[in-house]
Amino acid sequence: MKILGIIFCNIQMVHMFHLGQTEGKPSRPFYSLSLETDLRTELFETNQYSPLQRPVLRVTTNVSLTILTVNELNIKDQYLSISGYLTIAWEDNRLSWNNPSKTSQDYTNVVYLFSAAKYLWTPTIIIENSVDDVSTMADTNIPLRITSDGAVYWSLSGIFKVACESDIRYYPLDSQTCIIRITTWGYTQGEILLQLDEDKPINFDYYNQNGEWELHSSSAYYASNRYERGLSFSTLYFQMTFKRKPLFHIINTIFPVVLMAFLIPMVYKLPSESGEKMGYCLTVLLAYAVYMSIISDNIPSTSKSVCFLSIYLGLTLAFSTISVNLVILTLYAYFQGETAAPTWILTIIRRKRRCDAEENKIVPCLNEENGNIIDGKVMEITQTPEAKTLTYHDLSLMLDKFFFMVYMIAITLSTLTLLIVLLTNYHA
Ligand SMILES: *[C@@H]1O[C@H](CO)[C@@H](O)[C@H](O)[C@H]1NC(C)=O
Repeated sequence: MKILGIIFCNIQMVHMFHLGQTEGKPSRPFYSLSLETDLRTELFETNQYSPLQRPVLRVTTNVSLTILTVNELNIKDQYLSISGYLTIAWEDNRLSWNNPSKTSQDYTNVVYLFSAAKYLWTPTIIIENSVDDVSTMADTNIPLRITSDGAVYWSLSGIFKVACESDIRYYPLDSQTCIIRITTWGYTQGEILLQLDEDKPINFDYYNQNGEWELHSSSAYYASNRYERGLSFSTLYFQMTFKRKPLFHIINTIFPVVLMAFLIPMVYKLPSESGEKMGYCLTVLLAYAVYMSIISDNIPSTSKSVCFLSIYLGLTLAFSTISVNLVILTLYAYFQGETAAPTWILTIIRRKRRCDAEENKIVPCLNEENGNIIDGKVMEITQTPEAKTLTYHDLSLMLDKFFFMVYMIAITLSTLTLLIVLLTNYHA
């Protein structure tokens, strides 16, 4: 059967060949190894193709970027590493064979030719903001596809690592925008014009999601050209915005930090007799300092913008440090026992009470003015005669209450502010 088939085929081919000749038209040879060899010889040797010479005065290249994965977006060292490929297409009219009248024989049955960057003219392209290699992009192993109308397609795959200035203000609920800048090297804008592929300049069709970063948006655009000594170089920008998936950081950073902040005011509820106050508030301070150093390990050491979380931590650390001093003072007062407190403290408290009274509140007073008419209101007498003078002991209890309130309000307000700032930005 096989043999029969081959014979039949041959007969048909011979028949077709004869038909072609009898009609007086040049025949159209089938694809064969020797046909391609002839084509190569004609294009590259007979026509003396020079890879150093660009095809026309101004070569227009269509560029598109396909992104496969985001390997790393490091906000501390401020770089983005992606895997993907750049597809570059241009026209080299020296390499076209679709018009049989211009070639020595009809090569139109050869659909594609393949060649390597070594033997062809290729545009010199660099990634301008690459962090580990700024040499021109070329991979001698990648074949270039040439079509019969002279278009050359070149796909440069690689791991592109570019500098990406990070915006740490909203860490850990942040989003980062990174740009891959592509420009020509050596050839100015008048010689090579980079143009975005009209179809899909930036392609995420084969993109694999990253565990930490979610692709939020992307765009590609022409940017102001790079100027150097009066020469301008064509430049393209590929921009991507990534949003951090926040669950990990909410559980490991925000949650413990906020909970620990509420430990600080509780020291004033701890009775002085227990003897634990000092130890407790120093432990909280230390725990905070440790957390602060863990977090600052993860954020870049830039002073361009400040992270709100760092401000919150700094503020809480300050509260905590001040509270150590205040606890020492209240403990001092507590252990002075029944000694009378200095009169200037009394004056301050009395003034405060009077203000409270003006606000229509009836407040028990600790001093000898009890029962007097203040601003037309009768104050209730709630104090026993012994408590007429304010002792240090009373003072320490009052201070504990007062500082508890102040600390509770301050911590709650700063925590709410932090959460509102982070969340509104995240949902914007
Ligand atoms: C480049 O893009 C332009 C406009 O979309 C198109 O006309 C041209 O054929 C493309 N060139 C190549 C080599 O693909």
